[in-house]
Amino acid sequence: MIKPPSYIADIKPYVPGKPVEELERELGIKDSVKLASNENPLGPSPMALKAILDDLANTKHSNSLNRYPDGSGYYIKKALSEKLSVSEDEIILGNGSNELIDIAARTFLKPGDEAVMAHPSFVVYPMSTQAIGAKSVQIPLKNYTHDLDAMADAVTPLTKMLFIANPNNPTGTINKQDEFDRLMKRLPDGILLIVDEAYYEYVAEHDYADSMKHFREGRDMLILRTFSKMYGLAGLRIGYGIAGKDIITEINKLRPPFNTSSLSQKAAIWALKDDAHVKATREVNDEGKKYLYRELDSLGLKYVPTEANFIYMPLEQDSLALNDKLLRQGVIIRPMGPQSIRVTIGLPEENRRFIEALKKVISR
Ligand SMILES: Cc1ncc(COP(=O)(O)O)c(C=O)c1O
Repeated sequence: MIKPPSYIADIKPYVPGKPVEELERELGIKDSVKLASNENPLGPSPMALKAILDDLANTKHSNSLNRYPDGSGYYIKKALSEKLSVSEDEIILGNGSNELIDIAARTFLKPGDEAVMAHPSFVVYPMSTQAIGAKSVQIPLKNYTHDLDAMADAVTPLTKMLFIANPNNPTGTINKQDEFDRLMKRLPDGILLIVDEAYYEYVAEHDYADSMKHFREGRDMLILRTFSKMYGLAGLRIGYGIAGKDIITEINKLRPPFNTSSLSQKAAIWALKDDAHVKATREVNDEGKKYLYRELDSLGLKYVPTEANFIYMPLEQDSLALNDKLLRQGVIIRPMGPQSIRVTIGLPEENRRFIEALKKVISR
């Protein structure tokens, strides 16, 4: 049988969760709550939803589903350009920001190159790196946070890419401006710095590193953001990258021409205008965060304070066993490694279900 190169065969595939309906059937449970994928518990932006429903109802519209989408993403790029004060040719759209990680790695890495990243961090970075036959250099977190000094120390002449998830997934921690300033002084030319800001809109800390400042200073960097989290459009798959025009031109060569759908583009334009949905999402998240901190404190359980819409909990027990017990209570979270879990902050009732389930299975 035909075999892929060994660096492909060695990739550990991303294991998606089962559809909730299937899981419920298997376990014989009902009304489960899904707190596993850091989605927006309030749902999509109502303005975005209305816009695409109107579009679908209007069969004479040029955006009908029989037509290919606008491959240039003209209108959504225009909206982003105005919102972010960057030029349209400094923006690239992706089928989720996930696709942009992959395309950027394929654009700038070759077999034998190195990409520096933190561990644990977003699992797609090592996968995209390995898919090219390049090497992931994984630097342990320090206090659950990217150790940017150690990451700079790990740069060698082979390093072509450095990934920072800010906030980090799975720990929800951020890097601050002084850490970024120090890193910028040390990073040599010829390295693409990818700053993945999938949870950017949730961050409240005033000292959060301003990646756009460094972009404006002319750094070789790609800033990634998404409509999947704060804007509630994970199912439509749309994210974007911001980088210098020359970098965007190169990445664009590998971007599939119709990688974002007409519905996702339309929804994104309206989600960007939906300030009420963003406000409500922040409120639900802040309230949920406070409730979960309080309850976890009273249970004496450890957690890492978060700047995002999920909480990382280092455990003193096996995470897979705990996950299994929580599942049987109808609560779906994400085990991360052997002794930690990540739980998405949900609606008040969902958070309560998580805490109630935790109380039951922890005391058993
Ligand atoms: C840090 C980080 N980056 C990127 C993504 C990908 O998001 P999407 O492809 O939905 O834009 C995620 C999703 O969970 C994430 O946590």
